[in-house]
Amino acid sequence: MKTYETIGECLALHTEHVSLIYRCRISEPLEILYLGDRICSQETLRQLSEGPALPGYPSYGDGSSRSSAFRLLPADTAGLVSSRLVFSHVEHDDDTVILHLNDQALPLKVQLRIEVWYAYDIFGMSTRVSNGGDRGISLGSISAAWLSLPWKEAALSSLTGSWAHEMNLSEQQLNPGTHTIGERCGVRTTRYVNPSIFLSHGPEAAGESFGECVGLTYAWSGNWAYQLELDGRSSLSIAAGEHPDTAYRFLEAGESLSTPWLYLSHHCEGRGELSRRFHRWAKEQIIPGGEHHRKIVLNSWEAAYFDFDQDSLEQMIDSAADTGIELFVLDDGWFGSDYPRNSDTQGLGDWEVNTEKLPDSLDSIAAHCKDRGISFGLWIEPEMVNPKSRLYEEHPDWIIRAEALKPSIERHQLILDLSREDVYRWVRDTVLSCIEALEGLSYIKWDCNREIQEFSGSYAAIDGYVENYYRILDELRSSYPDLVLQDCASGGGRVEYGALSRTHEFWASDNTDPLQRIFIQWGTGMFFPPSVTAAHVCSAKNHVTGRAVPMKFRCDVAMSCRFGIEMSLTDASEDSRKIIAKAVSEYKRIRHIITEGELYRLHSPYGSHYASLVYILPDRSQALLFAWELRFAVGNSSEWVCIPALEPQGSYLVEEINPVPFDPHMMNMVVPIEHDQCVYTGEFLKKRGLEMAFRYEYDSRVYLLTSS
Ligand code: GLA
Repeated sequence: MKTYETIGECLALHTEHVSLIYRCRISEPLEILYLGDRICSQETLRQLSEGPALPGYPSYGDGSSRSSAFRLLPADTAGLVSSRLVFSHVEHDDDTVILHLNDQALPLKVQLRIEVWYAYDIFGMSTRVSNGGDRGISLGSISAAWLSLPWKEAALSSLTGSWAHEMNLSEQQLNPGTHTIGERCGVRTTRYVNPSIFLSHGPEAAGESFGECVGLTYAWSGNWAYQLELDGRSSLSIAAGEHPDTAYRFLEAGESLSTPWLYLSHHCEGRGELSRRFHRWAKEQIIPGGEHHRKIVLNSWEAAYFDFDQDSLEQMIDSAADTGIELFVLDDGWFGSDYPRNSDTQGLGDWEVNTEKLPDSLDSIAAHCKDRGISFGLWIEPEMVNPKSRLYEEHPDWIIRAEALKPSIERHQLILDLSREDVYRWVRDTVLSCIEALEGLSYIKWDCNREIQEFSGSYAAIDGYVENYYRILDELRSSYPDLVLQDCASGGGRVEYGALSRTHEFWASDNTDPLQRIFIQWGTGMFFPPSVTAAHVCSAKNHVTGRAVPMKFRCDVAMSCRFGIEMSLTDASEDSRKIIAKAVSEYKRIRHIITEGELYRLHSPYGSHYASLVYILPDRSQALLFAWELRFAVGNSSEWVCIPALEPQGSYLVEEINPVPFDPHMMNMVVPIEHDQCVYTGEFLKKRGLEMAFRYEYDSRVYLLTSS
């Protein structure tokens, strides 16, 4: 396992299948020679080192008018300062390399830290700047990571949308010039766009299994941006880090600053393999307990919103337990006494139980769960406060605001300034005491329902906020190693690997409409493992879109991720309850394939009437195929779905999961080929495939394939 080698001035970093190669000349700017498929021959490395190179970490004004990774500002005037970062030396161990650069103009030292995740084909990059002088220095920007690629044409794939509409795959060819894609939410990552992108070589985005592309994901729950510059002649440069609007930092004499991490990978044959690499790495190395399956959840939010009491919760728990569900999560609405949280307008911040609703406190709810053999979880949003709350009355000065401006209110709430040590301690102690006070609490859904809209102070304070958020998550996990944490921010507002390296799963969206969830989950799965993507079955008529779809379809969509229920089972029809109970028991049988399996996206929902994907266990002994009909017409009812990557010579028994009987009243003449209990070779499944004969709108199929 060779992760690092030098040939003359050429420094090569290798994962199993990818190489990243720099030219490091002492006292000269760093250069990038190559990012691509693994280079194995030393002769090739030597030849590369003698060829053309691109900037490795350019500084503003260092001899080029192009975009830069690093920019100084003069302390006193509004001008700009040229600087030049030059290579000094390199340090390394088995999986981390530090490239040391010095500024030629000022006593600044820059360390480019590169982690080599050899077995996962992923590089991590972060930068540290230190002011070695005796005066403060203003930095206009400092990128966490910089890459230059010899691409004349490039396409960007990003994951865009907004609340309840997250993670839509948007693809565009980049025109020559600069392009910024980023967010300034401050305390969360996403309002419109996720910090995970693919860049493809050529005018079109790479497909699942063709096209050269790079996948990048920025691990930070605050501001971020990618600044892309395509010169249209020879290269694309990528600067990843703080958003340019909020990038200014001041470094006191002797002070240092480290950026968050960017993770990236490269592949010459499509983004499908990049997704599988990120999933594997995240499950095995990043997400706590990511290799293990999560419990099946019933969450009270869409089932009851704020309208519940002891009895109705006990009924919910009974119905969950009767259906085989393993964890009951009590969402918003359980707290606030002076200002009872009966709507989202008040009570946030007052984390004591509302005894009017729950006279026997939460203990009895936890005890009821225990009696019924299921686990208990609780929703909290500890970084926020309603102006109508005791907390705000006692500490109006704790909120983030801009001096002289009226604080803006979003969802009737304000943000506590977690960068302050006293607020950090209060939030930490409040969360810890909620957990301590409640025997048997095994799960927390940690929410964050707004972003910063105005503030006074330094941008470093916002960094401090996010660091303190991480600090509390770290402390929680060390005090309660078995506690499961769900990462939520109005749905998918904190889906990134900064928060996900400290939480066990995430809520992808408040949109539980299965039709739209297919798109949301499709986009989410580009970088994040479906096994930790919470997906819940909604009630008959979806609360966000008003769409009504069959219960089987609702189950079949949610079962392709971390399965759960977000509806009242007590109000559901007998038929619906039966379908859910069957889905729950089947999910227990197949969830190891979602957790351990590798995702192959087979047919995209974009521009199509159906979508399909499969999970395949690494030893190819089992696979789980999902296919969903989004828009029915008799003419396109029959589709053959080919399944790659099975054992060609192996035989696979096909079992249909969640089948529903054929409805003789449907007059569309679609007669499906029965696959249930058939045995096919891996070669047949790859070359001929399985027919999905969709019989109506929102028909769906789930097939379990087991090597026989
Ligand atoms: C956010 C979450 C929802 C729910 C509500 C409760 O919107 O995304 O799932 O928890 O808050 O107020």
